[in-house]
Amino acid sequence: MSELRSFSNILVTGGAGFIGSNFIRYLFSDAGFGGRVVNLDALTYAGNPQNLADIAAVYPDRYVFVHGDIRDAALVQKVFAEYDIDAVVHFAAESHVDRSILDPQSFITTNVMGTYTLLEAARQAWKGRYGDGAAQETGATGRSADTGPSTASSVLFHHISTDEVYGSLGEEGAFKETTPYDPRSPYSASKASSDFLVKAYGHTYGLPVTISNCSNNYGPYQFPEKLIPLMILNMLEGKPLPVYGDGRNIRDWLYVVDHNAAVWTIMTRGRIGETYNIGGENEWENIRLLHRLIEMVAESTGKPVRQLEELITYVKDRPGHDRRYAIDCSKLKNELGWKQSVSFDEGLRHTVRWYLDNPGWIASVRSGAYREWIEKNYGDRS
Ligand code: NAD
Ligand code: DAU
Repeated sequence: MSELRSFSNILVTGGAGFIGSNFIRYLFSDAGFGGRVVNLDALTYAGNPQNLADIAAVYPDRYVFVHGDIRDAALVQKVFAEYDIDAVVHFAAESHVDRSILDPQSFITTNVMGTYTLLEAARQAWKGRYGDGAAQETGATGRSADTGPSTASSVLFHHISTDEVYGSLGEEGAFKETTPYDPRSPYSASKASSDFLVKAYGHTYGLPVTISNCSNNYGPYQFPEKLIPLMILNMLEGKPLPVYGDGRNIRDWLYVVDHNAAVWTIMTRGRIGETYNIGGENEWENIRLLHRLIEMVAESTGKPVRQLEELITYVKDRPGHDRRYAIDCSKLKNELGWKQSVSFDEGLRHTVRWYLDNPGWIASVRSGAYREWIEKNYGDRS
């Protein structure tokens, strides 16, 4: 399928984090993007500019790193003007549920206020480049009511969101784009708020927006607080493998490159004002996933499976722990022709290998303060 939109200067927020850095890598490789990428990132504990050191070296004129905060309105406006930004892909966020339970404040300021700051800067910078003031002509999705679904726009704000905004599922069913929002952690509530702001800017001002809600990502460069990298590293170091609650919560897993391919598909071909769910159609109970991971680490390191299994430690459950997530991504598949390309075995194997091969990266991203809190709340894990 051909691309309907092309961009010259893409602002990627949070491009030094896990998914954002993989997205920038994707733009310069598989996507064949020929323009300039501006990466605006505050470098919180989760951001590491070294993730893109090779890209910075190979593309000194087409890759720009701006160290700054999305909550800084003057800086964000300056970035729009200085680099003539015509597309935003907004990854920057506080992303870890456990941290949001410990201290929600930065989740509200970054995820809600930061998104507002970006939307407002886009609205001001792009005046005259879209049907602004078109509130009376737009439907709930922010597109023209009489011309039907629109794909034409010279500017675009793509917002990265999560399946967690939909709440928690029972044993059956999957989240659809029409599922009512029911966020249940400070993290998911802050992401839901940001989604509503993006929808509001589309509806009220006609700002060309698209939104994607994705399930759990895994792959290289993921901060080792999230389940998969945490478990791999603890296995390598012979530390306990902390399983929350009964270990039977279910997540849907997607390889990060497949997520990014979906984002690029939506940015270039998606309908303005629309939301698209992205998922792996790959549900795993946490404990079952952990056993699969143990087999892979055992294969790669020669450690006996039995020895790794003995590290499994059931700990206190996460407060408000959502039971099950599952994604219906048929809209994205049927309308835009995207599909997952990396099998779970292939993606997990590659991820295990990457963590084995990158001890320097691991050492550089670890944070002492957070580990203390985790130990206090979930028992000894080190
Ligand atoms: P991450 O925590 O690895 O990276 C977040 C990045 O944002 C970091 O580089 C950090 O420095 C930056 N950042 C944080 N606050 C900032 C601020 N105020 N100003 C500028 N930069 C700031 O996160 P991730 O896992 O890569 O997630 C990226 C996005 O994808 C988030 O919006 C998250 O909600 C969403 N998402 C994540 C997953 C997942 O499984 N990780 C799944 C679905 C959606
Ligand atoms: O669903 C998308 C979301 O996936 C994203 O929006 C979030 O940014 C991302 O962090 C992720 O949230 P989860 O809470 O699902 O991911 P996490 O890796 O923290 O946990 C995955 C599951 O594993 C969850 O059921 C909690 C459990 N868990 C997690 C950790 C860190 C454990 O049992 N032990 C652990 O030590």
